[in-house]
Amino acid sequence: MPIALLVTAMLTEHPALLGVASSVPWTPDAIRVKQVEEQVTALRSSVICAFNQLLDLKDLNTGVHSTRLAEWGMRVGQELGLEESELQNLEVAALLHDIGKMGIPDAILRKPGRLDADEYALMKKHPEYGWAVLRMLPGFERAALDILHHHENVDGKGYPAGLQGSEIPIVSRIVTVIDAFDAMVSSRPYRVGLPHQEAIRRLVESSGTQFDPAVVQCFISFAQAEMATVFAAAGTSVSSAL
Ligand SMILES: [Fe+2]
Repeated sequence: MPIALLVTAMLTEHPALLGVASSVPWTPDAIRVKQVEEQVTALRSSVICAFNQLLDLKDLNTGVHSTRLAEWGMRVGQELGLEESELQNLEVAALLHDIGKMGIPDAILRKPGRLDADEYALMKKHPEYGWAVLRMLPGFERAALDILHHHENVDGKGYPAGLQGSEIPIVSRIVTVIDAFDAMVSSRPYRVGLPHQEAIRRLVESSGTQFDPAVVQCFISFAQAEMATVFAAAGTSVSSAL
């Protein structure tokens, strides 16, 4: 008997194996629905992992602290009371917000000096590129929109749409803070990342203009205490960045 059928038969006979009370009517159809839901969840995770690997191949992930930043983003979302569906989108957006940089030439991505006006204009296309790719994946449409707006500023001076305040999706506002913090503290071949305390100071300084103050406050409230551990795990001493 195929394993799937065997498992189905076992679960039909012993519904408690699913961790539910035996009074729940686990019909074969209900079990099949649950299996499909699990397959969809697994597929979703695989897609996130695969895209994340692509970012690694292009050296667009900054390692351990990027992943930790995504976790902190999720905690900000939970603290701010986001619904489960929004948290799922937040996980995608936090991990894959810069996926559109795959479409930016390496000469621009890795340019050691300042970008000229044309190069910067092209770099600013990456949220749209990310949106264009992710929106094609069923179930990722909303996260694609959140990624589209991850460089908006609450004062309306961001891009691509110049949205202001609550016009910007809350998931995007959270990712904006995470992304900015990650960019500030990450070292590049041509520059050393900022000390995390200086990065936090800049987040606070730009609260209400670039960043949503509630998001900044929430992020700092728990991230600060765990910062040293994360930097140590990433192989970067906090003091070495000074
Ligand atoms: Fe970005």
